Amino acid sequence: MSRVFSGIDVGTSKICAIIANIGDDETIQILGSAVVPSRGVYKGLVVDIDQATETIRDAVMKTERTSGLRIESAFVSVTGKHISSMNSKGVVATTRADKRVTVNDLDRVLESARSITLPSDRRLLHVLPRHYTLDGTVKVQEPVGMHGFRLDVETHIVTAAAASVQNLIKAVRSAGVEVEDLVFNPLASGEAVLTDHEMNSGVMVADIGAGTTNVAIFNDGCVSHSTVFPVGGYQVTRDIAIGLGVTNEMAEEMKKKYGNVMSSNGVDPETQLDVGNKHTVSYRELNDVIRARVEEILQLVMMEVPREKRGQLIPAGLVLTGGTANLPGLEALAREVLGMEHIRIGMPAGITGIADHLHNPACATAVGLLYWGANNAEGEDKYVYEGLKTNPVSVLRQGVSRVRKLFRPH
Ligand SMILES: Nc1ncnc2c1ncn2[C@@H]1O[C@H](COP(=O)(O)OP(=O)(O)OP(=O)(O)O)[C@@H](O)[C@H]1O
Ligand SMILES: [Mg+2]
Repeated sequence: MSRVFSGIDVGTSKICAIIANIGDDETIQILGSAVVPSRGVYKGLVVDIDQATETIRDAVMKTERTSGLRIESAFVSVTGKHISSMNSKGVVATTRADKRVTVNDLDRVLESARSITLPSDRRLLHVLPRHYTLDGTVKVQEPVGMHGFRLDVETHIVTAAAASVQNLIKAVRSAGVEVEDLVFNPLASGEAVLTDHEMNSGVMVADIGAGTTNVAIFNDGCVSHSTVFPVGGYQVTRDIAIGLGVTNEMAEEMKKKYGNVMSSNGVDPETQLDVGNKHTVSYRELNDVIRARVEEILQLVMMEVPREKRGQLIPAGLVLTGGTANLPGLEALAREVLGMEHIRIGMPAGITGIADHLHNPACATAVGLLYWGANNAEGEDKYVYEGLKTNPVSVLRQGVSRVRKLFRPH
């Protein structure tokens, strides 16, 4: 049975809406999508609900027009520096007389892991099981049916500021779309671009957008760490504007047209670029400015994993997504600056249909929302603590996933 899912990535620079059919053969067939410049979003946060609503509605309507389908509900991305994450453990005694672990034990142990005390201004976004342990010794991924007296779980928990989450939900709802679930940006991006092998051996995904850089580390197929920095491509553009004395618009255009962070691309670095008012700047000057900021962002990202632990934690290296990953030479620069071999640009994978403009690292989050939906929709329904659809004042589904991700692009 195929299912239709929608995703809306509410980004600082663009809103990307997608509607897709997910078939039994685990392919994602894009039925419609639209990317529109966003307004009312600053560093990943909805700061003007009316403006954000308008652009979300625009993206949704365009997507509905191409697909001929109505988007009633969607998985929505969330980011911003208000998000924080931690790992939390839960423990329960198994209840059956024969000590076989049941689904109910799993529910209880996850409930125990999520019962952390949260301040009233924070909300739980994700409780993601990393692994279970039986009787303190045997690590298992799927404990149901196995024998044990004591069941432990280690989870990755993501929380967010309640007010920011409310504003985002309000903006989406006002655009006429119900929020199925909120998904932290890098978790969605990871779903769209990482291979099973990378996720299992250990990999970091860094989504460098316009106003934020989102990071997640995956080990043994699950998220072990995630974070967000309020810095991205906008800072690169601003550096160009300030450093070279041009407008933001011109800086953005120059960055996209002439940006190349590795000098060895065959262009004479002293080639002059006309920036108006009879001024010129050289290709080298432009790219020195870009490179300095991009190097800083890369270093910031890699501070999440101490150098001596990289081999053990992220042997599959670093995968870069987000619009800034379009910058020519970024892969090579990252390899040089970080001294890492396994670095690649992550393109959303496994999509067919009307998907031309989605083959771009900037669309990794939006496509990842569909994978998230496919993997979590059924499992998480059982964990609706504050069902969004039934309770309009609830903030989010507060979903606990007990299923490991099964459906990946590779
Ligand atoms: N070819 C390119 N070279 C350099 N930068 C680029 C290129 N194409 C896009 N960008 C930059 O990518 C950024 C937009 O990326 P993206 O679409 O991932 O951001 P977003 O999702 O809207 O923002 P965020 O995730 O931070 O909320 C902009 O800063 C843009 O200048
Ligand atoms: Mg983004």
